Amino acid sequence: MKNTIGNSVAVTLFGESHGEYIGAVLDGLAPGIEINPEYIAHMLTLRRPDGRISTPRKEADDFKIVSGVVENRTTGTPIAIIIPNENVKSGDYSQMRTVARPSHADYTAQCKYHGYQDSRGGGHFSGRITAALVAAGAICKYALEQKGIYIGTHIKRCGGIADSDFGDLLSDITSLNGKTFAVLEDEKGEQMRQAVLDAAAEGDSVGGVLETAIVGMPAGVGEPWFDTLESMLSHVMFSIPAVKGIEFGAGFAISDMRGSGANDPFRMENGRVVSATNNNGGINGGITNGMPIIFRTAIKPTPTIFKPQDTVDFATMTETVLQPKGRHDPAIVHRARVVQDAASALVMCDALAMRFGTDFLK
Ligand SMILES: Cc1cc2nc3c(=O)[nH]c(=O)nc-3n(C[C@H](O)[C@H](O)[C@H](O)COP(=O)(O)O)c2cc1C
Repeated sequence: MKNTIGNSVAVTLFGESHGEYIGAVLDGLAPGIEINPEYIAHMLTLRRPDGRISTPRKEADDFKIVSGVVENRTTGTPIAIIIPNENVKSGDYSQMRTVARPSHADYTAQCKYHGYQDSRGGGHFSGRITAALVAAGAICKYALEQKGIYIGTHIKRCGGIADSDFGDLLSDITSLNGKTFAVLEDEKGEQMRQAVLDAAAEGDSVGGVLETAIVGMPAGVGEPWFDTLESMLSHVMFSIPAVKGIEFGAGFAISDMRGSGANDPFRMENGRVVSATNNNGGINGGITNGMPIIFRTAIKPTPTIFKPQDTVDFATMTETVLQPKGRHDPAIVHRARVVQDAASALVMCDALAMRFGTDFLK
């Protein structure tokens, strides 16, 4: 099950950075769910490299759905999506075949796959594979929107610059889903882009924080103990390459609060139970409470940088210095944000199907 996630709605990813195709198999969706190819294409566009702040490797992401969909409706059988890899330059990686890039997966892949791994362009560990996750997640995200459930992510921090906080969530989500650089305050976005360019000019990279809001989830969703909504979201988020941390609601800061400040007092609003604050990020006891689900991930700086770095050649077991070649993102945050949306959508569909049955999304 290493490349599959999900209980009732599951996704399997396959492919390597420089193989012929990457893809996803999305299984467990009810028959009759509408598929919107333009919506999938739009989400893939948001993941695509963006000018000088991204890798020069540009791909058309000309996806094809090869099973499970007829006349833009799910049939209820597995949906297989394939995306060709077209802009491939494997020669850039010949030096790095046995010289491990620090903080990338070259050495650990060698330990696990004993040299049989496809190391070209990071192989199965490349951020390229996230295109397939985005395509599958786009199907889920569109289906959720038909049920009034909306997901959006912004770059909360990048290169030491902070975006403003979420305000009116629904309008923020609508605006973010139209932006290639997803910030709430465009001026802050310009400063972040400059910080990425400054790092890139020095052959370096930067990291950041992504904040996601999920609005419209009904209360009562989540499967304690082990498939709490926090567990499911954390599981999928840590599957995204470069994610190093996750926090919900007030996050780690909640540990410095007193109970009187940390608790979210309940009240009634138009016949619904709501809470005055949302320090718990919409989840109590692993179950949605009907408030927006809010979480943040920490995205590390791109591991492949263009500065010389100490490392080891694991073929000869000798120390060496690596001066990487190839095409790389000087930051990952702005591309990972739509991956985070897609992964969140998969989890919401899975959790809803476990709670209410697969027909809930029909
Ligand atoms: C959208 C996206 C793009 C990425 N681009 C690069 C890249 O250009 N160069 C690189 O070294 N890592 C890139 N990464 C990160 C690596 O894939 C990741 O750091 C590596 O697989 C090791 O996994 P870990 O960081 O989770 O330990 C990217 C990740 C994502 C999500």
